Amino acid sequence: IPQGIDLRAEIDRLRKKRNAVILGHYYQTPEIQDLSDFVGDSLELSRKAAETDADVIAFCGVRFMAETAKILSPEKIVVLPDMDAGCSLEDSCPPAQFKAFREAHPDHIALSYINCSAEVKALSDIIVTSSSAEKILAQIPADQKIIFGPDKHLGGYLKRKLGRDMLLWPGVCIVHEAFSETELLKLKAQHPDAPIAAHPECPPYIIDHADYVGSTSGILDFAKTMPGDTLIVATEPHIIHQMQKAVPHKNFIGAPGADGNCNCNICPYMALNTMEKLYLALRDLQPRIEMDETLRLQAKKSLDRMLDMAS
Ligand code: 13P
Ligand code: SF4
Repeated sequence: IPQGIDLRAEIDRLRKKRNAVILGHYYQTPEIQDLSDFVGDSLELSRKAAETDADVIAFCGVRFMAETAKILSPEKIVVLPDMDAGCSLEDSCPPAQFKAFREAHPDHIALSYINCSAEVKALSDIIVTSSSAEKILAQIPADQKIIFGPDKHLGGYLKRKLGRDMLLWPGVCIVHEAFSETELLKLKAQHPDAPIAAHPECPPYIIDHADYVGSTSGILDFAKTMPGDTLIVATEPHIIHQMQKAVPHKNFIGAPGADGNCNCNICPYMALNTMEKLYLALRDLQPRIEMDETLRLQAKKSLDRMLDMAS
């Protein structure tokens, strides 16, 4: 990278030159969120990726999100600033093991959280995101047996909330798994009137204390509309940037991990994307998502079902 360049100005210049759209997830750093053309949750970002008429999608999120963009918009060049930006949920679910699990339960359909590889999407019947899961599950006949993976906490939350039995894959998000119930209760004791908003990737002992449970966009909406002026936020703390922009007079506190602060809940995969790497990705059109066409078409079926059923 040339010394002393203005990264923000260069990214703007390259985005025009490349006819690129920059899609950013709420867990990216504030500076990346602020320069993104669109910031959203997994479902919204998938929809944007499917709709865009840009030539290049620069995906500031993790690899399964950029892969989803490529599956839905194969004619576009999709770049991810750091190809190592994975996800613990994806890692927990190797396609060969998932295939064997499916084969062991031939009378079940596979409902899979979007946080999985393209191979697992190809092995699944329907994809869901945290914002679309309840709506999609409600459309599946009550007597249909279901495998849900890879997030056991989202699956467990859906089972409890909808009273629906599902066989769960034992994956977890390491970020949401790191919240401490003891520290959360200490924080709550200091702010007894503050509601708690939690992502459904949290374990049940965190969800049980939550006044609102939903996707990142859902939590953001709750922050804008909730009564009172303080909110405890049990999800990746970079989302607080959007809350502070939307309602600057309110006070947002990240839920703590075992060490009593929220820094251990920063997603290490999301954090791999930087301004420098985004600049290089737009300059070099690398690292680029490439996918075998047979795999893409197979994975697209379950994603298309999600987009249909969630609309
Ligand atoms: P949503 O933005 O869809 O709530 O997903 C959260 C997440 O963990 C993405 O990796
Ligand atoms: Fe995966 Fe969790 Fe990071 Fe989201 S926050 S990308 S689910 S590890």
